Amino acid sequence: MKVLGTSALTSTLVLLSILPQTLAVKAGDFRTCSQSGFCRRGRALASRAKEGIASWRSPYSVDPSTLSLSPEQSSFAAAVTSSLYPDVKFSLEVRLHEDGVARVRMDEVDGLKKRYDEAARWALVAEPQVSQDIKWTIGKTDARVAYGKGFELLVEFAPLRVVLRKGGKEQVVVNGRGLLHMEHFRQKAEEPAPVEPSEEGSDEQTVLKVENVRAWFEGESEDAYWEESFSGWTDSKPKGPESLSLDIDFPNHAHVYGIPQHATSLSLPTTTGEDPFFNDPYRLYNADVFEYVASATTSLYGSIPLMHAHSADSTVGVFHVVGSETWIDVAHSSAKSTETQWISESGILDLFILPGPTPADVFAQYARLTGTAPLPAHWALGYHQCRWNYVSTDDVRGVQKRFDEEDMPVDVFWLDIEYSEGHKYFMWDKKSFPDPVDMMNDVAAVGRKMVVIVDPHIKRSDDYPVYKLAQELDVLVKQKGGETDYDGWCWPGSSVWVDFFNPKSWAFWSSLFNPKQGSQWSWTDSTEDVYIWNDMNEPSVFNGPEITMPKDNVHYGGWEHRDIHNINGMILPNVTARGLVERGEIAKRPFVLTRSFFAGSQRYGAMWTGDNLGTWEHMAVGLKMTLANSIAGMPFTGSDVGGFFGNPEPEMLVRWYHVGAFAPFFRAHAHLDTKRREPYLLDEPYKGIVRDILRLRYSMLPIWYTAFRETSVTGLPIIRPHYVVFPNDPNGFALDDQYFIGSSGLLVKPVTRPDVTEETVYLPENQVYYDYFTNQAYRGAAKGKNIVVPAALHQIPLLIRGGSILPTRERPRRASSLMKNDPFTLRVALDNKSRARGELYLDDGVTFSHKDGQIVWREFVAEKEKKGKTVRLSSRDLAGANTATAVESVALATYDPQNSFARSIGGVRVEKIVVVGLISKPSSVSVEGGSQLQWEYVAGVAAGEKKEGVASVLTIKDPRVDVASDWAIVIKA
Ligand SMILES: *[C@@H]1O[C@H](CO)[C@@H](O)[C@H](O)[C@H]1NC(C)=O
Ligand SMILES: *[C@@H]1O[C@H](CO)[C@@H](O)[C@H](O)[C@H]1NC(C)=O
Repeated sequence: MKVLGTSALTSTLVLLSILPQTLAVKAGDFRTCSQSGFCRRGRALASRAKEGIASWRSPYSVDPSTLSLSPEQSSFAAAVTSSLYPDVKFSLEVRLHEDGVARVRMDEVDGLKKRYDEAARWALVAEPQVSQDIKWTIGKTDARVAYGKGFELLVEFAPLRVVLRKGGKEQVVVNGRGLLHMEHFRQKAEEPAPVEPSEEGSDEQTVLKVENVRAWFEGESEDAYWEESFSGWTDSKPKGPESLSLDIDFPNHAHVYGIPQHATSLSLPTTTGEDPFFNDPYRLYNADVFEYVASATTSLYGSIPLMHAHSADSTVGVFHVVGSETWIDVAHSSAKSTETQWISESGILDLFILPGPTPADVFAQYARLTGTAPLPAHWALGYHQCRWNYVSTDDVRGVQKRFDEEDMPVDVFWLDIEYSEGHKYFMWDKKSFPDPVDMMNDVAAVGRKMVVIVDPHIKRSDDYPVYKLAQELDVLVKQKGGETDYDGWCWPGSSVWVDFFNPKSWAFWSSLFNPKQGSQWSWTDSTEDVYIWNDMNEPSVFNGPEITMPKDNVHYGGWEHRDIHNINGMILPNVTARGLVERGEIAKRPFVLTRSFFAGSQRYGAMWTGDNLGTWEHMAVGLKMTLANSIAGMPFTGSDVGGFFGNPEPEMLVRWYHVGAFAPFFRAHAHLDTKRREPYLLDEPYKGIVRDILRLRYSMLPIWYTAFRETSVTGLPIIRPHYVVFPNDPNGFALDDQYFIGSSGLLVKPVTRPDVTEETVYLPENQVYYDYFTNQAYRGAAKGKNIVVPAALHQIPLLIRGGSILPTRERPRRASSLMKNDPFTLRVALDNKSRARGELYLDDGVTFSHKDGQIVWREFVAEKEKKGKTVRLSSRDLAGANTATAVESVALATYDPQNSFARSIGGVRVEKIVVVGLISKPSSVSVEGGSQLQWEYVAGVAAGEKKEGVASVLTIKDPRVDVASDWAIVIKA
């Protein structure tokens, strides 16, 4: 398929001799920094700067005479020049947004070509509002502006340096080490220009000097400026060099997180040290990496150029909106500071500096830029059963039957590529799938859904309507030169790709899902219960360089694939989701799973961590990857349960179900070559354990859905690592194997190692935490404390933070839609002052009526009376309580507590209340202003005691209160 170039072959052989087999295979297919011209140049710049540290000075400076303030004075623009190329012009613009986010933009002006400047257009949800109040002060040597809680942004002119300070301390420094380099467009010289002998010696000296300085800054040779080969492929580079290097340092921040997607720990390790596996920068270049290594800096399927930097007193973010291949070096330069260098192949400098100062602030700032993940359909939070492939309509029916026979809940059955005839997506292979609509209706009859794969490669076949339509519309990606449709090899064989950057492609694609519009072919062999999986959208091209498109392919507007590669994957799920919304009489929430993603992809659906392996290492790193995605704005995330490749033994599979059940997206999937491993195939005790895990997930759906609501409004992730919840506790900054679920107070640590019977869990505060299953009370400590909890195969370390109230639904059902009218259980886990709080959010889970205020949003509060021990537990309306953020108030403006959704669940009761940690046996339990209730009390440790042991448990049976009404229950001491 591919011919290895000699140089690549040699380097592969060298690698083979020094590295383990697995890494060598990757190294052959995908570039290292030293095999990528612009990355090599960027790193060489950094090492020259390090050598010449005393005399190194950035050649870029702002020309103050050109500076102009915007009318509201929160932005300024100025010319920037480089002392190396006095004739080349650059522009700089610095804007301050209303929320204190700063945006720094730099571009080349009137160059020989134009740099790609549209990345923000795809990533941002809207053009941000600049501040009306914050005003720059322009001095002779700098511009500065003070705002918010002790923030100051400073732009020094010569050399150009941008600094964010808080309380006088530097937090973010851009170009502090002088690694900013925007390679300007240049003419390819036929021969190196000879230096003209000059009459006046002094002139000659100047010329030589500039040449020397250029070499000192840019290196001696024109390294890979005009052409570059890798692994038998040649990149023609018609625009020549146009890379962008940038140093962004975080003095006073020891940890950096984010820039997914990489298989590594959440707190990003140094990439500039001696470690042979971590001596390449983190690479962002969306790639279909076969059997990826579980610990590496290599790129994977998606890219989000957002980084958090964190310390005990500050969290900041930087978001560099660039769509081209980007490499990021991280160096923990001292115990307290982190240095980074960002090297991109093309594009303008478009950097957002998010000042924080807390993690929650950074999430809100990023959400205002790129939007939040909308509330998905409720069923999408259930369990998804996938396999490559369920081979026929009867196979699907058989799998469904087995789930039902074994009383295992499941919401969605998935079909991978083999449902389609010759990998022409949408077209059923009628030999094996003769009755697809009947099959879908059989699945939907029990309230379940199906998800079917639609990949972006389109079989080049005249009998394929999708191909014919796309070709006639002329919306296909072109090969270099821009004339001919690009042809590549993928599952269907010879394939083409829709260029989703072309606006003409959008309605065309959305309409494929929409039989209502009559003018075009559409997918009539489908129903409204079928949703879509977009895979391979990096795009994956089997016979392309690095398994993707050549960089000199041409997209809409004449842009090269190089410019937009990392953005490419995000438009397909967008227009797919749009098609799903538009297809029905009533608009329903879409579901699209994507493998490739970019900043902003959260707006279109869920993502997963791609083709993982059935190994313990992959199970563990998948969890860290979902945390990294979560903090980078992609909260609807998970990794394939069981691992895509391999045949996990039963113990591993059981543990993997625990991992999956505590991820926002919960899907099992398996490769074509693996043995069937649906959970009903397990022997006991494994089968019973997995059934319990599935039921646990379903009982907790109210908690997950409430967390999804919160992220859809605030941008706070659904699963939260320690630094997000306890930003002042340094012990938690590197923790990435235990995490909290939403604001619920649940702390979970899935077991990801074999042969475990107990597990250590870190408690970050002087508070009581209860075992979810046994009510065992554990005590934390003010400075943090490790505890040991039981973790045999049937157990998962799952703790409730004292002070939480958890709503659950405990009646096992076959699918989540059948739980709509089920009663609730409230679990009240008292804190050390006998208080607790929790939330519950509900809506119809299907339509967009929640945007019109058709919701139920409750707050539950338990409080102890000031003197005495009586505890009062109450339920009140949160939607009406006007605690809403700006985003919500749109919906809540029309909110009516008697809305029709609320009325529709008016009869849904709380069937049980469990109060954990009461001080003593109550004398009576009654509804306030109403009747006495039935209850049972088992004595045990109280919340406020120092003792460990099983906590006291009060169980109130059938408290006769409705979940959507106001009520109070008085527990008299
Ligand atoms: C994608 O989604 C956004 C909303 O996030 C929408 O404004 C835009 O028009 C959509 N379409 C494309 C092609 O990006
Ligand atoms: C109660 O818990 C809080 C943390 O939630 C802690 O700050 C406080 O010290 C604890 N008080 C006692 C008496 O343990």
